Amino acid sequence: MQASHFLTSHQFSCTPHGLDTTHHRLSPPPSTVRFRPPPRRSITVAVAAPSPPLLKHQKTHSMPSEKIEIFKSLENWATQNVLPLLKPVDQCWQPQSFLPDPSLPFADFTDQVKALRDRTDELPDEYFVVLVGDMITEDALPTYQTMINTLDGVRDETGASLNPWATWTRAWTAEENRHGDLLRTFLYLSGRVDMLMVEKTVQYLIGAGMDPGTENNPYLGFVYTSFQERATFVSHGNTARLAKEGGDPVLARICGTIASDERRHENAYSKIVEKLLEVDPTGAMVAIGDMMRKKITMPAHLMHDGQDPHLFEHFSAVAQRLGVYTADDYADISGVLDRTVEIGEAGGINGRGKTCTGFCVRASSPGLESCRSELMRKLKR
Ligand SMILES: [Fe+2]
Ligand SMILES: [Fe+2]
Repeated sequence: MQASHFLTSHQFSCTPHGLDTTHHRLSPPPSTVRFRPPPRRSITVAVAAPSPPLLKHQKTHSMPSEKIEIFKSLENWATQNVLPLLKPVDQCWQPQSFLPDPSLPFADFTDQVKALRDRTDELPDEYFVVLVGDMITEDALPTYQTMINTLDGVRDETGASLNPWATWTRAWTAEENRHGDLLRTFLYLSGRVDMLMVEKTVQYLIGAGMDPGTENNPYLGFVYTSFQERATFVSHGNTARLAKEGGDPVLARICGTIASDERRHENAYSKIVEKLLEVDPTGAMVAIGDMMRKKITMPAHLMHDGQDPHLFEHFSAVAQRLGVYTADDYADISGVLDRTVEIGEAGGINGRGKTCTGFCVRASSPGLESCRSELMRKLKR
């Protein structure tokens, strides 16, 4: 199955050579194969479906326990510098502000739904493949909150902890929760995608989890989240641009609004990484190097629809082709992080040292210092 399977049967076409990007939903060529909605499957069939890709070796609790004190000592700093980057709920947008109003008389509501559908008419099918991929990624939010709560020293110990790290994580999750809700409802109303398939994929993805290689280590975890927030900012920003170019200003505003949340979140996580570079340069640089050597995995890398073990790669290929999230975007941030590692290696790697993540870096190396400055500039951008 291809990522295109998410599109409704009367709307999408493919050729023996792959996705046909030239046809919009109102004009599928008669000579091509059309996807059909999936048949209803029994639980037995779903259980027997192929497994998602195998996970690599999973390492746990790699941060030395004494470093937990660093995060304890940063609690006041986090209260003053990170929590203000959250928005009070009464100042936040909500999905309903962008969607047809169900409290209107039925005819008015359906008029709004029709207008929504009319606006999406000119958007190509591949655009919806990417939007679905983004929506599924957002909808697997329980996995991301779980991931952050695996991190030693910053997890929410009770579920309602007043610790600023925990407070941030819960409120960040609550802000993020609107992204999947809004995109999901929009896609449902658009009629452009096969919602049954989408929902099944979300269920598979949450069940599969994710393996970002953060090892319960908050240094690694915050490097990962700052990278990921940047990636989602770029991706939603580009779907906004394409929606605008494709004639749907409301969808452009939806994606742009989500992108601005991601930007604010990126600022928060980058601020934390920057602070770690200040209070523990070696530990922070080692963490950055470690994440980059592993090649940062995308949060939905275990995306699976029960049939296609390469579903995420197919989605990524379409995102790359449309310029929504490309190898250049990845290289933009990872390049500077990679160079940090190279300079660190040239300037004083000490083989597999005592540090938790496998190698030692001399933070005093002049090259390393200049790279650290570049990295901090990049994070601040
Ligand atoms: Fe998001
Ligand atoms: Fe985000």
